[in-house]
Amino acid sequence: MTKRFYLTTAIDYLNGEPHLGHAYEKIVADTIARARRSLGEDVFFLTGLDEHGQKVQQAALDSGKQPQTYCDELAATWKAFAQKLNLSNDDFVRTSEPRHKAVVQAILSKLHAGGHFYKAQYHGFYSPKEETFLTGKDRRPDGTFDPGYGEVAELVEDNYYFHLRKHQAWLIEHIESHPGTDPDGREFIEPSYRRNEVLGFLKHNTLDDLCITRPLARLNWGIPLPFDADFVTYVWFDALVNYVSVPAARGDPTVLAALEPEIRHLTSACRTPSSGLQLWPADIHVIGKDILKFHAVYWPIMLKTMGLPLPRQILVHGWWQKDGQKMSKSTGNVVDPVAVIDEWGVDAFRYYVVRELDIGPDGNWTDAGFQARYSAELANGLGNLVNRSLSMLKRYRDGVVPKFSEELAPEIRQAVGHVIEKLRVNKLQEALLAIFFSIVNRANQYVDQTAPFKLAKDPAKAPRLDEVLYNLAETCRILAVLLWPFVPATAEKIYAQLGLSDAPDKMNAANWGGLNAGHRIGEPAPLFPRKDRFDNKQSGQ
Ligand code: MSP
Repeated sequence: MTKRFYLTTAIDYLNGEPHLGHAYEKIVADTIARARRSLGEDVFFLTGLDEHGQKVQQAALDSGKQPQTYCDELAATWKAFAQKLNLSNDDFVRTSEPRHKAVVQAILSKLHAGGHFYKAQYHGFYSPKEETFLTGKDRRPDGTFDPGYGEVAELVEDNYYFHLRKHQAWLIEHIESHPGTDPDGREFIEPSYRRNEVLGFLKHNTLDDLCITRPLARLNWGIPLPFDADFVTYVWFDALVNYVSVPAARGDPTVLAALEPEIRHLTSACRTPSSGLQLWPADIHVIGKDILKFHAVYWPIMLKTMGLPLPRQILVHGWWQKDGQKMSKSTGNVVDPVAVIDEWGVDAFRYYVVRELDIGPDGNWTDAGFQARYSAELANGLGNLVNRSLSMLKRYRDGVVPKFSEELAPEIRQAVGHVIEKLRVNKLQEALLAIFFSIVNRANQYVDQTAPFKLAKDPAKAPRLDEVLYNLAETCRILAVLLWPFVPATAEKIYAQLGLSDAPDKMNAANWGGLNAGHRIGEPAPLFPRKDRFDNKQSGQ
């Protein structure tokens, strides 16, 4: 068995409902997963939920439920959300699952035995709101703490710490010397400005050792520390481990070997049936910019001490705002992905977030921007092209594909090459732009230039009409293949309307000439119904 292309997302805190930011990250990762599969790679795509910690315990308490009951109920909503987004994940991890807990404990035992932890008394300040310790460095010039920390309390308590300082030098060296070891030449941290940020941080600061526990007296919704019953594991040492706990549960030999003998108590009950998958090291961790330090500093050090290779890439996306402001439940300034999807369809949502925001910078959601792209690019661009191409084929040739022609082939071939190149390096927005500019717009222009509706009126122009109709239908077919990673349901609809029974999920089908003369297409139907202002007002009532 060969190693799978292993792709992960951040696991979301289970203390509320999913929002645009969560949805965006998962769609980005899903698009990469689908693109890689389409390009022939054997992908394993993991997403899931981060269930332990103060915030979740508090949220459970507020709703009058036991944490596990609270999590079980809410996890069902999040799993349904993953389906709503049409994610193609291969597993869904929950950190309260036995298979995950067993691996966290095995790692803690191993690292404890290896002398990587020490117990010390902490005397300082603590922000319950942000679940974080604060030091003098966090004080503002007037001696107070940022109001974002909420009420800050003075605290004296014992905890376990993870030695970090001694790892600083090799980590800097690793980041600097890893412009990507794989054939695509990807960087360890991308985009490069995020890599520079991490390097700057590591070079100009001395790492504080990481506190990895909370006293049971203060937090009991966590994984018990295997070597001291008075403590639970603090969230990051728990959450980050999900990236290896699922491989371990699925029998990944690299992870299992590294965690011997501590992993022995990962009983068969914790193992998922399809054992023996080779997943580690991860090929890409997709994360948001706010959790970069945890992934680019703490996680590599944890892995190194476990004896595991580092992930190949950390791909960092930016944050969405709404109408130029931070999204916040308290002010009601949020985008509810479910409401958008219910009104406009999942593919309109998937398309918009990837088209609007490149992986890296921050983005801004406006309803007007979303609706403008829907109307111009999906309804009038792609939808109109497919609908008129297939409707004309139906009307003028009874839905039967005419003989092969390759008038548009050179341009399309070039565009396909370009799109594939972009997909191989996760430049999703650029790939989508190329699809729309070089293919959708070009083909719509071709309809206007060749005017098939005029050709149809002159029997002497029948051979020319055949050519035009073939070129249009074949372009639609190739579009479906290229678009499948982005908007899978739409791509499948295009294939069905073309009367093709297979799925548009293999990039090598984007070769010109796949439609055979004499093939009968299916029924054309609008892919993205036009919605005018009146409709919008009505649906908003
Ligand atoms: N549980 C931790 C991650 C642990 S990973 C081992 C966490 N959870 S979170 O729910 O707060 O965030 C999950 C992901 O959503 C993060 O990658 C975060 O950056 C992303 N986003 C949260 N809000 C966002 C926006 N407004 N915009 C884009 N992404 C955002 O952090």
